[in-house]
Amino acid sequence: MKQGILWAALILVGLGSAPVALAAGAEELVRTECAACHALERPDYEALGIQERIDRKGPPLYYAGNKFQPEWLESWLQNPTRLRPAGIFPAAAVKESEEFDVIDPDKLIEHPALTAEQASEVATYLMSLRHHDDLIAANTYEPGTIAKRMGQLNFSKFNGCDACHSDEPGYGGLSGPELYTAWQRLQPAFIASFIADPVAWDPHTLMPKSGLNEGAVARLTNYLKLIGEEQP
Ligand code: HEC
Ligand code: HEC
Repeated sequence: MKQGILWAALILVGLGSAPVALAAGAEELVRTECAACHALERPDYEALGIQERIDRKGPPLYYAGNKFQPEWLESWLQNPTRLRPAGIFPAAAVKESEEFDVIDPDKLIEHPALTAEQASEVATYLMSLRHHDDLIAANTYEPGTIAKRMGQLNFSKFNGCDACHSDEPGYGGLSGPELYTAWQRLQPAFIASFIADPVAWDPHTLMPKSGLNEGAVARLTNYLKLIGEEQP
């Protein structure tokens, strides 16, 4: 009788712990393989000052669950393509040249790639990091449409986003992440919220706070939707 209870308890523990063991494995992998370059908790920005940005080796991931599309994350981790043409600290990767800035590829890292099984578990773990549920909850963006020409004008002439971002492969600024796949990579509320107030997400962002109103943010986000949906 006692043995029967013991077995029942062991089976329950065993069943109950299987998924936990998987998640713990993913968390351990991220802590050992990724934490040297990526913040998994909010850094003490106030205490560290701008040195935090200078020492940063990869984008912060402590709000990954508020930022990424989970399918994109899982697939990118297996096949990481370049998102920031000039890397995480553009000033270090730009070579002086006579006419325009050129990027020194030796200064950029090859991102580590995960197997399909690791990527699935790591993506699930990263999606659980949701430090900024507050900013997502406060966002009111509703996806809409914009004519392409008007979207382009908003992105370039009216707001100068093209100084730092490309909206077409090979066209636009190089110091920020490319934005022609932003809609595939990122959650719509994150895009709108980041455009409205990048500093709320990342106190040491290189992106200037624009002071755009809700309508202007929605037009820019709708443009990223339009060009993102055109990508293969
Ligand atoms: C040597 C430093 C380094 C290591 C180690 C590293 N990364 Fe990265 N990671 C980077 C850099 C730099 C980028 C920016 C790449 C780009 O924009 O082209 C990046 C980008 C990312 C992105 C996209 C982030 C964004 O905001 O666009 C994710 C997700 C990511 N890494 C996850 C991981 C995971 C998971 C691991 C561990 C398996 C890992 N990284 C290991 C440096 C690193
Ligand atoms: C002075 C350069 C600069 C300008 C101008 C700028 N950005 Fe950025 N932006 C950045 C950088 C750099 C990042 C990545 C965060 C970081 O490293 O600080 C970023 C991040 C973003 C992101 C999040 C993308 C991601 O993958 O993390 C969006 C969306 C974005 N910018 C949209 C815009 C829009 C729309 C405009 C015009 C209103 C704009 N940006 C103007 C530099 C700039």
